[in-house]
Amino acid sequence: MAYTVDQFVGDLDRITHEETDATTITERIARLLGQLVTHPAAIPAEYRRAPAGQRGRYMLHRSPRFNVTSVIWRPGDCAGAHNHETWGVIGVVDNEIEETRYRVTETGGGRATLERVTVTRHAAGAVSRLVPGDEVHAMHNPTERDTVEIHVYGRDLAGLKRRTWDDDGTERPLVSGKYLNC
Ligand SMILES: [Fe+2]
Repeated sequence: MAYTVDQFVGDLDRITHEETDATTITERIARLLGQLVTHPAAIPAEYRRAPAGQRGRYMLHRSPRFNVTSVIWRPGDCAGAHNHETWGVIGVVDNEIEETRYRVTETGGGRATLERVTVTRHAAGAVSRLVPGDEVHAMHNPTERDTVEIHVYGRDLAGLKRRTWDDDGTERPLVSGKYLNC
């Protein structure tokens, strides 16, 4: 039997009870998310399709210690460098995504130097972990078709004060009452 979203949520509940360290939590979740995303049919079809003309964002499970969402990036969709203020685990269900990781050095006055550390094309089945100290990234779908992902975060991103950076290192606040699940 393929691993299901309900089983995954049950495991997340247990893991986030048992562990407090972000590295340990994300390592444990990454193994399970890897199982989930290799069986796309385990994720209901309506959560694997973008609405017409929009990026897809769906809440699959929302609780105080973690959220599970699906994200559908259309061809060319991207998110500039941003942070999360929590741990995260991202798995690719279908197609692929390009993730750029940055090292951020604050230079004062709301500016920073962003050094590109890695650029990775994650294929279907791949999992990427975000932990404090290494959680600033940009995302891009460089392909000609939709990319489907599952995202898990340790805090509710709605209303959370996060940060984003322009290409020149200018810092801007990233906060939304809506759930920006990336
Ligand atoms: Fe992100």
